[in-house]
Amino acid sequence: MTFTENSTLGELLSNETTVKIMEKHLPGISTNPMASMGKSFTLKQLSAIPQANISAEILSAIVSDLLNITTADGDPTSPQQNIQNESPQEPLTINDSVAIVTGAGGGIGRASSLKLSQAGFKIVAVDFNTVTGEETVNMIRAQGGKGLFIQADVSKEEDVERFTKSAIDTYGRIDVFFNNAGILQKFSLLEDLDASEFDRIMNVNVRGVFLGLKKVLKVMNAQGYGSIINTASTAGLRAEHSMAAYTASKHAVIGLTKAAAIEYVRKGIRVNAICPGGVDTALTQAVPMMMQESGYTPEEFPNMRIGRFAEPTEIAEMVVFLATEKSSYVTGSIITVDGGLTL
Ligand SMILES: NC(=O)c1ccc[n+]([C@@H]2O[C@H](COP(=O)([O-])OP(=O)(O)OC[C@H]3O[C@@H](n4cnc5c(N)ncnc54)[C@H](O)[C@@H]3O)[C@@H](O)[C@H]2O)c1
Repeated sequence: MTFTENSTLGELLSNETTVKIMEKHLPGISTNPMASMGKSFTLKQLSAIPQANISAEILSAIVSDLLNITTADGDPTSPQQNIQNESPQEPLTINDSVAIVTGAGGGIGRASSLKLSQAGFKIVAVDFNTVTGEETVNMIRAQGGKGLFIQADVSKEEDVERFTKSAIDTYGRIDVFFNNAGILQKFSLLEDLDASEFDRIMNVNVRGVFLGLKKVLKVMNAQGYGSIINTASTAGLRAEHSMAAYTASKHAVIGLTKAAAIEYVRKGIRVNAICPGGVDTALTQAVPMMMQESGYTPEEFPNMRIGRFAEPTEIAEMVVFLATEKSSYVTGSIITVDGGLTL
């Protein structure tokens, strides 16, 4: 087999010798995600595309090197089976995979921990609440899964550092990060919203999500793979009456999701956000009590058009989808799971 300027990029990147030649003239070409899109282009065709940055001189140097490698039997080298498989971006099988879940002691976090465990992930369950967090890990073990509990406050940098390090020290890797812990504000009109309540919500819902992204992205970037799911809310897409701080915090989660997704889109890391509507968890069960305590009722409530709240497991199904390679082309997406609330 001979290689010329009419050989396709796919052919040139599936052979050890030609890969070396391509890398010599175009460093990084064999691992560049753009290259997989151009595999059916010939070298000559590629050189005509300005973004490919293959000048006439480089083209001629590559072709000259290629012409020199043909052996007597016409089979220059042993084929390189599939360079994608050797890429550091290829995660191991799901049974070796590790997921960190924050807010794992409660509704959506617990349901997602159990579903991710059923899908084969080892779970690092993080929660502020030791009792409920340990309960979740016991439930994981009872269904035959593996996991450990780390008590942490997601708004404290040293705690976030600690649970990230624990995941690596124990399991050696982080495949999935479900950045989920969050709290609901006390209902009030904006003019009556205490600055301290605003800060409390922002501290957990925004600073907590930011710190998790910051620490885990560093690990995933070094690994070359990972999937992150942030829990926003339909309040990240529209305003919720009497919940200005919560609404602002969830809009910020969506901003952070997009910012992270764009920075890591070519580094093997996907970052998405889910937007649940009303879910039957401790967070929503506390609403009547909150209204009773404050003596204040919002003028409007969200309309779950489907006619009921979601079960936490119905949100967890989306988390598992985003965690696994089934969603390999999904990144930067803001996905509603809201029973038609935002229609
Ligand atoms: N329940 C809903 O209707 C709904 C709708 C949209 C979005 N959400 C979001 O889903 C996420 C999970 O909510 P949920 O409904 O499962 O609530 P939940 O109260 O049942 O669970 C939240 C868990 O997070 C933990 N937590 C709270 N603050 C923490 C902190 N600083 N550090 C560590 N852990 C902390 C709690 O201890 C609890 O176990 C939140 O981000 C919430 O805003 C919930």
